[in-house]
This record gives sequence, C-alpha cells and structure tokens, in this order.
Amino acid sequence: MPTIIDGKLTSSQIKEEIKTRVEEIKAEGGKTPHLAAILVGYDGASQTYVGAKVKACEYVGFESTLVRLEETVTEEELLRKVEEINENPDIDGLIVQLPLPKHISVEKVTSKIRPEKDVDGFTPANVGRMALNWPAYVAATPYGIIELLKRYEIETSGKHCVVIGRSHIVGSPMSILMARNGYPGNATVTLTHSRTKNLEEIARTADILIVALGKPEFVTADMVKPGAVVIDVGIHRVEDASKKSGFRLIGDVKFDEVAEKASAITPVPGGVGPMTIASLLYNTLLSAEKKVYS
Ligand code: GUN
Repeated sequence: MPTIIDGKLTSSQIKEEIKTRVEEIKAEGGKTPHLAAILVGYDGASQTYVGAKVKACEYVGFESTLVRLEETVTEEELLRKVEEINENPDIDGLIVQLPLPKHISVEKVTSKIRPEKDVDGFTPANVGRMALNWPAYVAATPYGIIELLKRYEIETSGKHCVVIGRSHIVGSPMSILMARNGYPGNATVTLTHSRTKNLEEIARTADILIVALGKPEFVTADMVKPGAVVIDVGIHRVEDASKKSGFRLIGDVKFDEVAEKASAITPVPGGVGPMTIASLLYNTLLSAEKKVYS
C-alpha cells in the first residue's frame, strides 16, 4: 500500500500551529491578524468557500471581515472597496473571491490589490517574487502541495517532476516551485498541457506526478511509473445514488488503480483540497507579522 498523503490531517496540524502563534501574539500584546474577503454575488461554491475561510479565521483566532456585494455592483465600486481595504491599516490580508461577474475585469481588480495584502498570491508582484525565489505570498493550492511534500519528507532533488495542466493558479506556479533551488524543489520539471504530444509517455517517466488539468479520472495506472508520488489537484462531483447526498467526489486521478502503483498519493477528498485554507491562513499570518514585505 502507498503512503496516503493526508491533507485533512496536515491542514488541521497547520491550523493548530497558527492558532498557537496567534495566542502568543495576543499574549505579547501584538495585533490580531485580520483577513478581509470580498464576495460578489451568490455563486453557490463561492459562498461555501468564503464561509469556510471566515470560519477558519475564527478557529485560529484571526479577525475577519466579509464584504458582500451585489452581482450588479459596478467595477468602479468594487475597485473603490479594494482601495478602501488597501488603506485600512488594521487589515493584513485581502482576497476577492473568484469568479467575478462578466462585466468586471479580474485583471483590473487583482492588480488593484496591494501586493503586501495579496494573501491569495494572485498579483503580478507576488507571482514575480515567487518566480524569483524571493519572499512572496504563494497561491494557496501550490503552497499547500509544497507543504505536503515537505511534511511527508518526499525527496524532490534530481527527480523528474511532471506537471499536467498549466493554469495560472496551479500548474504554472507548481512547475516553477518544483524547479527552484531549494526544498522542495531542485527537480527536473516537465510542464505538460492540452497541446502536449505523447503526454501518457511523459507521465510514465515521472517520479513525481502533479495532476491539475480538471478532467475526472484522467490519469490511469498505465500512465504511472511504479513507485511514483502522485498529487491529485482535481475535484469533481459525480452522481452516486448510494450516498445520502446523491453524489461523491473524485479527482483527476483514478485513485484505486493508481494507488496500487504509487509509493505515495493524495486522496480526493482529503488531499490537496483541505490544504488551501491552511495556506491562506498561513499567508495572512505572514502578512500580520510582516514576514514577506518588511
Ligand atoms: N476561487 C477559487 N479558488 C479561489 C482562491 O484560491 N482564491 C480566490 N480569491 N478565489 C478563488
């Protein structure tokens, strides 16, 4: 049996570590870390995510502010709200939950967020700093994966890491982080995507396979080298009449058959997913303690 990389357990450990640090800060008379989230409209998944983020803030002892704006809010009003939070010295971190309504430019809104408060790590300044291996806020999912590799002591130096998917928030930063000079890192990285030829063959040469293309059970056992470490970023709902909810969650990897070949693997659910909120809390703590921009 492979090692099951338990993101649920790891994220609760990280939350406990953050909670302890917040207690220390408060005992020293320091400022309570404060995260602000802007949620536009009523998208179901976004409401769930933002709700979970606010709850996690409460759990670790952070302050949180949730700004809810109507679906019809103008871009100008939203930009004004971002500016107001930028200027508020009590707020350490700001996230604008995506997706935004079509009439609002994500680029305009993202670039309005002050890099010092960009705990999502989405601004060009933080993406650039991350690429340069400078102190940076790294986006939640890549940071969560890095933390899992570290805490499970996965060897990365000199390994062949194949990343499937080149999104701005997962595949692309993951490829940069795995290639950088450090640990986890120092891997030889191949970034594959929809135009890649012989993807299956390339995947089979991976010592570490990071799958983030958003296709249910895309990676099958025949695409995996025996002993590989497999990280599954996908999450999909499929109907399942045997479940009370009527559905179950699956990833981009066909778990049961790939688990038989892998040396370590993340499950879905309970793998990469739970790590993202822990990463966001961690970035907010870094901001409150002025550890990235000083
Ligand atoms: N929508 C889906 N994931 C994210 C995230 O990590 N941050 C923000 N702001 N929006 C999201």
